[in-house]
Amino acid sequence: MSFLKAWFQAAAAALTLLTVGTFSPRLRSYLRRFATEVGIRKEPASPFQTRTPDSIGDPSAPVAIPDLEAREGNVSLLELTVLARLVRARHPMLLWEIGTFDGRTTRTLAANAPEGAQVHTLDLPPTQATRHQLTGPERTFVEKSTSGARFHGTPEQSRITQHFGDSASFDFGPWEGQAGFVFVDGSHAAAYVRTDTARAHHLTEGRPAVIVWHDYGEWPDVTAVLHEVAHLFPGAYRVAGTTLVVWEGQAP
Ligand SMILES: C[S@@+](CC[C@H](N)C(=O)[O-])C[C@H]1O[C@@H](n2cnc3c(N)ncnc32)[C@H](O)[C@@H]1O
Repeated sequence: MSFLKAWFQAAAAALTLLTVGTFSPRLRSYLRRFATEVGIRKEPASPFQTRTPDSIGDPSAPVAIPDLEAREGNVSLLELTVLARLVRARHPMLLWEIGTFDGRTTRTLAANAPEGAQVHTLDLPPTQATRHQLTGPERTFVEKSTSGARFHGTPEQSRITQHFGDSASFDFGPWEGQAGFVFVDGSHAAAYVRTDTARAHHLTEGRPAVIVWHDYGEWPDVTAVLHEVAHLFPGAYRVAGTTLVVWEGQAP
């Protein structure tokens, strides 16, 4: 009897996954992994080398992770740790994040940046019209009551400047050529991944910097655009066990 009950529960869960689950980014990612696992889906060949998380930064240097709990829409704990290690290793004084969401990553970037550093983060207000179309499922991340709630009232808040707008029309001009670190994690639609990548490039132009993209291998448009622009970021690598692509270099 208990076997039958468990069987029906599993069947209901599988049905949910195959129907309404396609609207949830997290469940879609399970579906993609399952399809790859059973050979229905082939991963496209990647132009990026793979590095292990422990080969990044100094594994013995302490990092601060002030907000451990990941919620849907956040980066994973491993990804957050890699971001923190990169910031510790490169000590950028000006950091930019495209896609604030609840501010968990923003806070970690600020907690690991050197004394006097400033973190800027941009988020799309739910009511703002966008220049390009967003992908359907990502509206969930846009439509929230407060952006950056997880750094509000924390010790890191004084080092964070919050901006609101559409990344395709926002004026990044005042910070061009000044950022030492950019985290691209806004819209996952191809048009946005392209323009956000161009913005990241301009923000870091002419100086040694790090650009990190989230959701490689997870959101098809992110993967496709990163493959398209890979030649512009020589030496960019993906981090095993994560959806991060990292470029450490100097944009001409
Ligand atoms: C996946 S969440 C970011 C997660 C966050 N970086 C973290 O690590 O927790 C994507 C964010 O990008 C924002 N966003 C989506 N489209 C945008 C746009 N066109 N301009 C600026 N922000 C955008 C959404 O509102 C959402 O907060």
